[in-house]
Amino acid sequence: MQRVRYSLLQRLLHWIVALCVLGALSAGFVLGTLGFEGAKNSFGLDTTNAIYKYHKSFGVLILGLMLVRLGLWVVLGRPALPQSMPGWQRVAAIATHGALYALLIAMPVVGWMATASGGFPIEFFGYVLPGFMAKDPELSKWLYEVHGALGVAILAVVALHIAAALHHWRVKRDGVMRRISLP
Ligand code: HEM
Repeated sequence: MQRVRYSLLQRLLHWIVALCVLGALSAGFVLGTLGFEGAKNSFGLDTTNAIYKYHKSFGVLILGLMLVRLGLWVVLGRPALPQSMPGWQRVAAIATHGALYALLIAMPVVGWMATASGGFPIEFFGYVLPGFMAKDPELSKWLYEVHGALGVAILAVVALHIAAALHHWRVKRDGVMRRISLP
């Protein structure tokens, strides 16, 4: 019989990544809007360095967790959607989920490359990871712009994803939310 819910590991990873993305997006938009000097003037040097460090650390963590999720998606697949769901909604759901996977893998990779080519450290909690790139300020500037544009795209797709989830949960009440809920 085909499963009707994601495995416990898949459900756990979904909510952990959701929390990390919320934090990384919020911190990222603060840094992107204020820049290093603006953040330093608003929060002080130590807090600004901590925001950069944890933004990068959680970003790298998201990359690792998304690769695990991608592997689980390939191996375990996805549970069947309810029969009542129209075809266009199935296509929309698969397209949105695919876009989220692609964006949440591309985003940290671009952030990593922008940071490394800017000559800055890839901080991962207590460690510094290799940058794998030579310093190139022009390339770094362009990659940060791509990083910012991807941030806006993630915000838009996440908003659509949450709106659809709320519609299934509170309006249609068709059990779609139970596929991914923890208890
Ligand atoms: C899914 C993971 C990530 C998300 C959602 C994310 C999100 C963002 C966003 C929205 C911005 C603001 C961009 C702007 O408005 O210009 C930003 C800035 C930044 N991100 Fe990320 N990011 C992620 C991963 C990473 C990683 C892995 C690194 C480096 C290892 C990184 C390094 C940075 C830095 C240094 C800035 C500040 C750029 C500046 O000062 O202009 N990010 N991030």
